[in-house]
Amino acid sequence: MPPEEFRRAAAETARWIADYLENSGRYPVLPPISPGALTAQLPTAAPTQGESIDAILADFDRLILPALTHWNHPRFFAYFSVSASAPGVLAEMLTAALNVNGMLWKSSPAVTELEQVTLGWLRDALEFPQTWFGIIYDTASISTMHAIAAARERADPNVRNHGNSGRLILYTSAHSHSSVEKAALTLGLGQRHVRLIPVDEKFRMRTDALADAVATDLSQGLQPFCVVATTGTTSTSSIDPVPEISRIARQHDLWLHVDAAYGGPAAIVPELRPLFNGIELADSVVVNPHKWLFTPIDCSVLYTAHPGVLRRAFSLSAEYLKTAEDTEAVNFMDYGIQLGRRFRSLKLWFVLRYFGRDRLAEMIRTHVRWADQLASLIEANPDFEVCAPHPFSLVCFRHKSSDETNRALLDKINASGHAFLSHTVLNGKFVLRLAIGNIHTTWNDILSTWERIQSLC
Ligand SMILES: Cc1ncc(COP(=O)(O)O)c(C=O)c1O
Repeated sequence: MPPEEFRRAAAETARWIADYLENSGRYPVLPPISPGALTAQLPTAAPTQGESIDAILADFDRLILPALTHWNHPRFFAYFSVSASAPGVLAEMLTAALNVNGMLWKSSPAVTELEQVTLGWLRDALEFPQTWFGIIYDTASISTMHAIAAARERADPNVRNHGNSGRLILYTSAHSHSSVEKAALTLGLGQRHVRLIPVDEKFRMRTDALADAVATDLSQGLQPFCVVATTGTTSTSSIDPVPEISRIARQHDLWLHVDAAYGGPAAIVPELRPLFNGIELADSVVVNPHKWLFTPIDCSVLYTAHPGVLRRAFSLSAEYLKTAEDTEAVNFMDYGIQLGRRFRSLKLWFVLRYFGRDRLAEMIRTHVRWADQLASLIEANPDFEVCAPHPFSLVCFRHKSSDETNRALLDKINASGHAFLSHTVLNGKFVLRLAIGNIHTTWNDILSTWERIQSLC
């Protein structure tokens, strides 16, 4: 592409992005289409001859945009609400242009060093131990898989050579994210070696049940090696009792991994930091800036107190990757399964610098306050009930009637294009989840959605 053509198209794209971010609320949150609708409109083969960038951009507007679910929409309240904040978007543009690969320090020194510096800033902002080592992966699922691989390495150093012993047992709560079990599948631990510990009435891991499960496994000659606790579970945002779990972990030499993928960013808010008490006792923690720290997808951070163990689990250098700096510099390829790595720290660096710790804390504090206000409104309506504590920015609630009514309510609000909520099942009942977290969301967005939900009953 000639530079002049690039300049023109880039300026037009930047204008498009600015308009989109300013007006993301004007699109239906969910596209009113059925599976296959976009595919049917696209050619079955790539063009033989190249096409103009104008034609491609026009089709992006005409075909792709109407088939998107708009995660940037201020009334996107499903799953966990995320944000492509403008500074993060700008950094992504630069990352794409640079196209550097941070597999080794040498393959692009700034990728390695900015990642170390930025993750040090984030670690300190979240008040995690200063000795912790951080690394960016794409998603929390991958971060957790690496943490469990490190736990396995510590428990059974023969695993590199011999593979799994078939005796290693992993513990997590029945409410933890499916990525924990997926990690067990991927690492060949086997689903039957994952113990899903029951939860209490606040959806927190029951430590008495954890202790019993470990004792039973030990009595059967099995080898408990890792427990995954969650600070902000997916269904309800419940917080497992990390200090007690860590006591059991220490007693039995279990690696404690804390999944704070969603909740973690809230540790930046001083008055919410007590929710994370005990996290300093963990062997590893995952936090996703791409969930609630206004950083575009994807960016997940794994911190660990034992980088040497993580490195032992994964380092395997080929001759063609050896460099003269190997003894003085970190080569992130040694700390994970992937060789090539995107320059993900750039967007986190932009976000942390542009907003600063105080403003990030203020945005998260506001989301938590809005969740509180919404819960009060729901509780004030005798037809509805709040179904779980809401320590962060997620509110779980339901109409007090049947599951069918709640299912229909969810379908109606989502079909309206006004807002997008998701659901879960708690104590056998169908429950609506409204997750606040998008940078564009205002209190009016939440209020208008709540009003609409009531009117749809
Ligand atoms: C608590 C928790 N952990 C892990 C994940 C997985 O995150 P990712 O999509 O980054 O793999 C999620 C996703 O919502 C989550 O809520």
